[in-house]
Amino acid sequence: MILTPRLRKFALTAHVTSSVGWLGAVVVFLALAVVGLTSQDAQTVRGAYLVMEPTARLVLVPLAFASLLTGLVQSLGTPWGLVRHYWVLFKLLITVVATIVLLMYMETFRVMAGVAADPSAELGVVRNVSPMLHAALALLGLVVATVLAVYKPRGMTRYGRRKRDGRPKVLQP
Ligand code: HEM
Repeated sequence: MILTPRLRKFALTAHVTSSVGWLGAVVVFLALAVVGLTSQDAQTVRGAYLVMEPTARLVLVPLAFASLLTGLVQSLGTPWGLVRHYWVLFKLLITVVATIVLLMYMETFRVMAGVAADPSAELGVVRNVSPMLHAALALLGLVVATVLAVYKPRGMTRYGRRKRDGRPKVLQP
């Protein structure tokens, strides 16, 4: 089903807002991770790891799903299609992988918050380099997705070329 121009604009607004909002939230996580690793103040370090889990649950997870869903609408509701252009396919792949890793990482957030809440745990044990690495990788993936979205490189999949040329799926002998 192809969206009407008005609906398409509306859906695109939702898509860009959620996707680029997700990217911005990841930048905040990167900052939190750096604060957790470098702050000299014990309360601040513990606080950084304590706030990651609820913030990820309330902000990162909903934005990831919103980006994925609105991206699917944007692809299936316009002539771009889901599997016709490599740039759309790569964005789908990046988003799906990032969302799965995020969902798996929620457990790590919970464990780190548990350690941070334990007053007997030394600060060296509370500090953890993993959120910084994950946030940096996620940021890289989301920046690549944004660049793909804006530049829209030409490459088409075999399916996309067949559809464009109007050739039937199986050529008759
Ligand atoms: C990390 C996630 C994503 C980011 C940062 C992102 C970003 C963007 C941006 C900024 C645009 C606007 C580009 C423009 O109008 O010039 C856009 C458009 C688009 N996105 Fe995404 N996107 C993401 C995920 C997805 C996913 C998962 C899909 C497909 C399943 C998708 C499909 C599309 C399509 C088809 C358009 C073109 C819409 C149109 O021109 O009507 N995006 N995206």
